[in-house]
Amino acid sequence: MSASDLTISQQGFVRQIVLNRPDRMNALGRNLITALRTELERCRFDHQTRVIILTGAGGRAFCAGADLKERADMSQDEVDAFVTELRTTFHLLFNHPKITIAALNGAALGGGLELALACDLRYAHDSVRLGLTETRLAIIPGAGGTQLLPRVIGPAKAKELIFRAQPISAAEALTLGLINDVFPNDDLLDQCLEIAEQISQNGPIALAQAKKAVNQGLQCSLDQGLQIEQLCYAGVIPTEDRLEGLRAFKEKRKPQYQGK
Ligand code: COA
Repeated sequence: MSASDLTISQQGFVRQIVLNRPDRMNALGRNLITALRTELERCRFDHQTRVIILTGAGGRAFCAGADLKERADMSQDEVDAFVTELRTTFHLLFNHPKITIAALNGAALGGGLELALACDLRYAHDSVRLGLTETRLAIIPGAGGTQLLPRVIGPAKAKELIFRAQPISAAEALTLGLINDVFPNDDLLDQCLEIAEQISQNGPIALAQAKKAVNQGLQCSLDQGLQIEQLCYAGVIPTEDRLEGLRAFKEKRKPQYQGK
């Protein structure tokens, strides 16, 4: 299936979205962002999708950030509108009810790393380089990077990466906790699919509620966070899936969750 600048496929409960502009290092242009937003909104209500993997076409870049060639012809107002659209789309991704994985199969720079930061999990192959390189273009990360990077790796290292604007290796990113793991190039997608498949066997409502509890809880005090956890837990108590989990445990079989 192809939706303009995206190539989309489905394996079981796992949806794979490939950024498909290899001649521009999968840079984020207007059409790509519109297609991504449309697809993410569609996935919210798709019971067949429990995990989304985002990756890039062409093997050289996951995503090289904003399309700088498109940007060159934009007015100031158009730049403002585009970056706002990018930020809104990535925030939609951050708050998406499905679990999201960035399979970084090439450079993740600027908006490309911001896209990955909006995902729940990030895996890279060993020769990938990652960075928020915007300040060397005399701009700042504008699609969530200034907020998500310090939340993921802490403010000191985040400031260093943003101010120096130098890409780092996958090994360094792993040490910083910016990515979850590093795999050999040929294994990356298979490993991500295996992780996605494993996650997709768990209760889909529980996954969404756990994600919401972590994401919202990180934005407030521990007391408020525990209240959020309680509310999210309350969301799983009346579900059919919770009863199926208990039945499957008693009957010593694998649960079959329906997302109900
Ligand atoms: N927007 C538009 N086109 C881009 C792009 C971007 N962000 N990044 C790369 N491209 C294009 C290049 O202009 C080139 O096109 P051309 O063949 O017509 O000249 C093509 O993709 C290949 O890029 P190239 O630089 O030749 O490949 P490389 O393997 O040497 O380097 C990168 C790859 C990603 C490291 C390098 O292109 C790069 O640093 N890109 C800019 C990243 C950036 O600063 N992003 C932040 C944006 S805010």
